[in-house]
Amino acid sequence: MQITMVKKRLASGEPCEKCAQTEELLRRRGLWEKIDEVVWAIEGEDDSPGFVIARRHGIDVAPFFVIRDAGGEETVLTSPLRLIRQYFPAAPRTASKPSDEAEPRAENKAESKAEDAVAMAARFERADPIEILRWALGRYGDKCAIAFSGAEDVVLIDMATRIGLPFHVLTLDTGRLHAETYAFLDEVRRRYGVEIEILLPDDEALCDFVGRKGMNSFYQDGHRECCAIRKVAPLRRALRAYQAWTTGQRRDQSPATRAALPVIENDAVHASASGKLLKLNPLAAWSYEQVWAYIRKHAVPYNPLHDADYPSIGCQPCTRAIGPNEHERDGRWWWEHGGTKECGLHVAGDGI
Ligand code: ADX
Ligand code: SF4
Repeated sequence: MQITMVKKRLASGEPCEKCAQTEELLRRRGLWEKIDEVVWAIEGEDDSPGFVIARRHGIDVAPFFVIRDAGGEETVLTSPLRLIRQYFPAAPRTASKPSDEAEPRAENKAESKAEDAVAMAARFERADPIEILRWALGRYGDKCAIAFSGAEDVVLIDMATRIGLPFHVLTLDTGRLHAETYAFLDEVRRRYGVEIEILLPDDEALCDFVGRKGMNSFYQDGHRECCAIRKVAPLRRALRAYQAWTTGQRRDQSPATRAALPVIENDAVHASASGKLLKLNPLAAWSYEQVWAYIRKHAVPYNPLHDADYPSIGCQPCTRAIGPNEHERDGRWWWEHGGTKECGLHVAGDGI
């Protein structure tokens, strides 16, 4: 059984009051996690996915639920109470206004959040990346950020455009990217008509750092300090405004650090202002070849450096082309040996 909830989003960006109350009710009854997908009907946008579903079923109220059974049969309900009675009769009843004592303690909340992500990861492990993304955008909309720097991320932007739900793109401008990468960012912006939020390093921290150690200190004492200022801290600040984010990481990128990458996880490095931050790696199970097959099939724009033997592209001073028998990440921080070859965006404790 798959349950889709269609909610209405007002022009202000807020959900309609009845939709918000319904969500609250489902949460109180412990049923919010049973909603597989949230689809928005956006005020003033008749072709937004929620309105398309509403027209298909002849519904003119929000919210409503579409329940699809294993045989693909769809049932539409406009009452959350009916949904509960019909499909979740054993759901615990709670007072309409939970008392403070009824609130789970913070650590219990964290525990159930961790379980949720584990369950979602198991559920989506074999799913197509586009289905993982559809779920995330349906649930979080533009509170889900696509972190964009490389070929994989544009695959996700391409998929998000096909899904047709609101999404948000952000990128870290470290100030040290290749000229080709800056041109590529603009190409993606033009091609998909998306705004790209540019995250910059804190100027005081950066001035202090380069003032003390010069522009290229990473060749002497490693990349951690520079990455921490130019990448990790700006991303950490920005992600506070989101509830979920996606990366283009794949398991086959790094046997040392990414081999066990889940498709969905609780972010162990960053948090949102509300404490909850889900991290999605929809391409985790894809290979390098699958990414490039998608790029070719859909004529997705890519950084021209890839055609010059740069499979993995970071900052200009820290990336070089690879030779015939080298692994794709061998061109990153190539002067460093051992260690994790991670800048700290994804692995706690490294680069921070
Ligand atoms: S890194 O940690 O070694 O730099 P990598 O280049 O493999 O990461 O990229 C993995 C994912 O991290 C990308 O798919 C993207 O989601 C995110 N990422 C890396 N660099 C940036 C950046 N400059 N801006 C935004 N996201 C980035
Ligand atoms: Fe600095 Fe290199 Fe890290 Fe870029 S990749 S932030 S230049 S150390």
